[in-house]
Formats: sequence, structure tokens, C-alpha cells
Amino acid sequence: MKENQNHENASFKDYENPKDKNIYQKAELFGQYIANWQSRGHWNYRQVCLSGSTAEVILEGEPDKIYVATVYNDYLGLSQHPAVKAAAIAGIEKYGVGVTASPAIGGQMDFHVEIEQKIAGFFKREAAMLFTTGYTANTATMQALFKKEDLAIADAGVHASMIEGVKYTTNVKTFLHNNMEHLERILKGNQGKYRSMVVVIDGVYSQPADLAPLADIVYLCKKYGAFLAMDDAHGVGVIGETGRGVIELHDAYQDVDIITGTFSKTFGHLGGYVVADPELIEYLKYQAAQHIFSVAPTPASRCVLKSIDLIDEEPWRKVKLWENINYLKKGLHDLRLNTEHSASAIVPVIIGRPGLNAEVCKLLLEAGVYANQIGYPAVNLKSARIRMSITAAHTIDHMDRILEAWEWVKVKMNIKNFE
Ligand SMILES: Cc1ncc(COP(=O)(O)O)c(C=O)c1O
Repeated sequence: MKENQNHENASFKDYENPKDKNIYQKAELFGQYIANWQSRGHWNYRQVCLSGSTAEVILEGEPDKIYVATVYNDYLGLSQHPAVKAAAIAGIEKYGVGVTASPAIGGQMDFHVEIEQKIAGFFKREAAMLFTTGYTANTATMQALFKKEDLAIADAGVHASMIEGVKYTTNVKTFLHNNMEHLERILKGNQGKYRSMVVVIDGVYSQPADLAPLADIVYLCKKYGAFLAMDDAHGVGVIGETGRGVIELHDAYQDVDIITGTFSKTFGHLGGYVVADPELIEYLKYQAAQHIFSVAPTPASRCVLKSIDLIDEEPWRKVKLWENINYLKKGLHDLRLNTEHSASAIVPVIIGRPGLNAEVCKLLLEAGVYANQIGYPAVNLKSARIRMSITAAHTIDHMDRILEAWEWVKVKMNIKNFE
């Protein structure tokens, strides 16, 4: 960031490594940036919630106001399910609140093995392993498997954790989001130049909210001899007849070398998983640093055994989720708002200009809708957006309240179309 640059036109990225600033100086500079946004009422990050990740929430500072929350990725509403809560409590009662050791040296409990077997079976595969978060599942797996002799080819929209994971290959190429011609060009141009090539994708992309064309990607990987890694954090529970995610749409269970995901969204808890062939999983259990040198998930995570079952036992949740999504999207389109190519439970509204985006977010909050503003570098500057996550715990009344809030914001700002 240049000295005296206007903080209003800056983004988080400008404060990552400002020239000649030591750690305190760069923190001070970033503090000025936050203060500038706060002075306009545009800083909506790290709001303190007093009521849990539910469809209606109470936020600190407004104890008498009930907001419709669209910030939680609790797609099937399982974080509040009585049976899931009971399973977490039973896990704590039996094993205590923590396991206090890494899986390699004492921390592995029988329920960890049970979860591994269950999540592997969920994807019709034989083996899986756990991490404490989805983020570490991605970084650890990619770092352990791919090194500087290898080439990673990532969709431009993949999650930050995948990019972090493949950095150590030092050979990372990105292809334009979901652009198969571009992917093929890179695969073709690099065939034989590296020990191995791995294509890295998400199933559902968390910002565009669209889906990977998995069948085409599998075809290209086979054609050019590349491995395939897919993180479907946002697809599981939401996409596919039985909620197995994007992999189910293409019956590609055996075609993805490395399937990763998280228990922090649809499953309502936290923790990451990797599903792959048994020999890869066995290797990772002793070579993935974030697994060997880090504690195993807590006994409360035993609740995900119940969450996994509930995807099959209560299919009405996915039906309700899609009823909500379709109703909301139709209403937003009637208001001439652009939800881009959203085909999942993430519904973005494209605003386009960063300053405007923050003002919209502030006004939505005023109107009782708690949503997230997403700007650069998570998306490019012209794609600034409000992002809403819809769940089965929402009702049609909630969708109406969200639509009324958008209508009010448009009138208040005297704007026909945001972009
Ligand atoms: C696509 C994707 N992968 C991985 C993660 C990280 O998951 P976790 O919250 O379990 O670390 C996220 C979370 O935002 C995500 O959106």
C-alpha cells in the first residue's frame, strides 16, 4: 500500500505486506483502514451473535431485534438438531471434552475410526481420515502428496485452503473458472513435463455458487493422465438425489482420486475429512503434518455420525432447502436482482461496486437481514456481492422478509439495478 493512499479505495490485500512496515506499523495501518470503514458504518465483520447459528438471531448491541440470518452454512439445519446435540453431549459424557493427543500418539478413539468408515461409505469408497478442520484437510493432503516435481492445475475459483496446499509444488497454474478449453490447453501443454499433474476443483464454488462440470473434468484428467482432487464442502447435503454432492450428479464416486470436505457446513459441526484409496489414506496418516502434529477432533465430533445418518433419514430437509432457495431466487429475479449462476444453497446478489456493496449490507441489516458482503480479493472488484446462505431451517416467511428487505433497500437507495 502506498503512503497516504485513501483507505476507502483499498482492500485487505493492500495490507498483507506493505512496504517497509514492521509488524506493529502494518497492524496500525490496517487499524486505520478498519476505523475508516467503521466511521461509515460499513464494517460488518466479526459481529457478535448471542443466539447460535440459527435462522433467526440476536446480535450484540440490539438485544430486542430479531434478524433473519443468511450467514450460516448449516444447509440442512443440523447444527440445532436434537439428536445431533444429544450425540455430541453423549460423546463428551463418555470421553471427556478433549482427547489431548494427536491421532498417531494416543488421540485416536474408536469414534474417530467409526466416523472415518462412515464418511468413506457415504462416498462409496473404502477409506477416509479426519482433520480438525476442512481447511487443514485440504492444505495437509495437498502438501503431503504433491511436491516441487509436480504440477497443480487449479480452477480460478477454488477455496483458499486448496491454493495454500498446492503452493509447495511451486508449480501452480490456474484455469479460468469452469473453462474446459483452458483446462485442456494447460493439460496438453504440460503433459510429460512434470512427475505428475493434479487438477484441483471445488464441487460447488463458494463465491459464484455454481457447480463444477465434473464429468468433463474427469474425462480430461483421464485423457491427459492427471490426478483429480475435489473439495465439495458446499455440495454435500445439498446437491444430488441423496445429497452426496456433485459427485453423485455424475456417478463419479470412483473417478475422483482425492475427495475432501468439511463437517462444518451441512453436518452442522466442524472437522475436515479426506476420502481416497486405502493406500493413499494410510500414507497420509503418517505423512500429513497437520494430522501427525495436531490433536484429533474432540469427542463432541461424535455427533457427525448422527448428522451423516440424518441426510438419508430425513430427506425432507433437502426438499425444504430447495423450496426456500427456489422461492427466494424467483423473488430476487422479480426484483431484477442478479444471482449470477447460483445453482446451490449459496445465493449471491451481485452489486458490482465495493462502496455500494457495503452500504447495501448495512441497509439490509437495518431492515433485519443479516447477510455478508464479499469483495476483493475473494471476488474481483467488479463482482462485489452480498452473499446469502439458505438453509432448511428457514421458512417461506423468512424468504419473504429477505425479499421485502431487498425491495426496501432498492427504494431507499433509489437504484433500479445495482450493476
Ligand atoms: C470450499 C471450502 N472448502 C473448505 C472450507 C474450510 O472448511 P472449514 O470451515 O472446515 O475449515 C471452506 C470454508 O469456508 C470452503 O468454503
